[in-house]
Amino acid sequence: MNLRASPLGFEPADELAALCKAGGDPLRLNVLRALANDSFGVLELAQIFAIGQSGMSHHLKVLAQAGLVATRREGNAIFYRRALSQGERLGGTLHAALLDEVDALQLPADVQARIGEVHRQRAAASREFFARTAASFQAQQDLIAGLPHYRDSLLALLDALGFGADATALEIGPGDGGFLPDLARRFARVTALDNSPAMLDLARQRCAEEALGNVELQLADALNDDYSAADCVVLNMVLHHFAAPAEALKTLAQRVKGGGSLLITELCSHDQSWARQACGDLWLGFEQDDLARWAEAAGLCAGESLYLGLRNGFQIQVRHFAKPEQHNGLRALTHRY
Ligand SMILES: C[S@@+](CC[C@H](N)C(=O)[O-])C[C@H]1O[C@@H](n2cnc3c(N)ncnc32)[C@H](O)[C@@H]1O
Repeated sequence: MNLRASPLGFEPADELAALCKAGGDPLRLNVLRALANDSFGVLELAQIFAIGQSGMSHHLKVLAQAGLVATRREGNAIFYRRALSQGERLGGTLHAALLDEVDALQLPADVQARIGEVHRQRAAASREFFARTAASFQAQQDLIAGLPHYRDSLLALLDALGFGADATALEIGPGDGGFLPDLARRFARVTALDNSPAMLDLARQRCAEEALGNVELQLADALNDDYSAADCVVLNMVLHHFAAPAEALKTLAQRVKGGGSLLITELCSHDQSWARQACGDLWLGFEQDDLARWAEAAGLCAGESLYLGLRNGFQIQVRHFAKPEQHNGLRALTHRY
């Protein structure tokens, strides 16, 4: 049988061999495991696996040549993530099976500890940013996407969900509290939770000015501290400040009551790296598909989405994810779309 597929001498077996070769190394398999729900730069991966940068670059090159990892530029840095398998292409079935098996691997404890350290470094950078810049918060938000840009769309989506009179809301990272009056009017009780005392002070001022009697402010880390679940959890321009957004969605999904909703307003993926310095962003927006995949992995179902263009070139996504309700052993949605 002639395996040559093209007049250029391209050998299909080479592709399969590259895939097998890439998967034939324990370190590379563990790299793929670490990238299951996260993306890392080469330096971070070198730190996580305690090897030199050039060694890690070599392994990433082998994985990239086999189509197992893809890159994404985040400002000046290149981040590696897992590439999705293309079922219909040569090697697609093997690729998917390899990732399935890799997902069953348990990363060594020291590797897990160093991943935690990378996440802590990212989270600390985000916290320091908001502690430093609370005074100029509004000006920073307006550089990219302030609440006025997306408030109407978000409210349209929220109102279409038809929450009952006794429903509760939780806003994570309310910033200066600009959205709290809207939530306070629609929900019986609202909790506004932020890990920055300076930002929470701004939200407190807003609640006092607007005499919002049903809003409770809570100083807490949305990802590590304990707090109550709500029927509607709102996250406006916050996810891109989280060290590990896919993992964060899993944590946040647990704070949505069964039959409730998670509403996320976020930037779409962009390449304006100045936002890292000027706005403390850890991630330059998100691909729409990534958010949907992460939400699904967190046990949520994608609902309506709105995409808004902005004058300065940023695009905003307003996304709704529903949490199925459990009753009689069957999973069912209370909101239907
Ligand atoms: C860019 S601001 C968004 C503020 C507001 N939602 C808005 O759109 O105007 C991000 C907010 O998330 C908060 N934040 C970041 N990480 C957090 C965490 N792990 N837990 C709770 N709040 C967090 C920050 O302190 C800040 O108030």
